Amino acid sequence: MIPATQLNPIIREMRESDLRKVILIEREIFLFPWSLENFADSLRSGYLCRVMEDNNTVIGYSIMMVGPDEAHILTLGIGADWQKKGLGAKLLNYLFDLAREKNAISMLLDVRESNHGAAKLYKQLGFQQIATRKGYYPAMCGREDALVMRLML
Ligand SMILES: CC(C)(COP(=O)(O)OP(=O)(O)OC[C@H]1O[C@@H](n2cnc3c(N)ncnc32)[C@H](O)[C@@H]1OP(=O)(O)O)[C@@H](O)C(=O)NCCC(=O)NCCS
Repeated sequence: MIPATQLNPIIREMRESDLRKVILIEREIFLFPWSLENFADSLRSGYLCRVMEDNNTVIGYSIMMVGPDEAHILTLGIGADWQKKGLGAKLLNYLFDLAREKNAISMLLDVRESNHGAAKLYKQLGFQQIATRKGYYPAMCGREDALVMRLML
């Protein structure tokens, strides 16, 4: 385990050459991971794709889409070894600034109802639940609801 004090991560644009590393983290932290093609499509679509890197190692990533007024976080992850060290909050704060730069006035994201850790973080940062999407996600036993959360930027 790396102590949080020894981390000095940077956040930069994701490149095609990062995808292999991103997908390894994705498969490690999500039960229903995106495919490499999903990430490649996001890059091709011009979404705001970022990686967090520490000491030349990719340790996290995010994909955000910004439309008129509204930013959507499509996915966000921190590698298992680097979680709970404040890095998710750091990446989200970076995304708030980036979305504001692009003139977004609110930010939306979906989170699985069972993902209490992520939902707690989003609430700590000011997100509020505004809706529920019934059966939005695949789950081990059928489907699971998504909480739709919004932050006014
Ligand atoms: C959700 C995620 C991005 C958070 O990143 P992180 O670097 O672990 O989060 P941080 O260290 O910045 O967390 C800060 C706060 O979030 C909450 N939190 C984060 N992970 C948590 C967990 N597993 N259990 C409980 N609380 C958690 C805590 O409130 C924590 O504050 P505290 O330390 O004062 O209690 C990361 O855990 C992750 O990638 N998880 C797997 C993928 C995922 O769920 N992505 C989000 C999909 S919507």
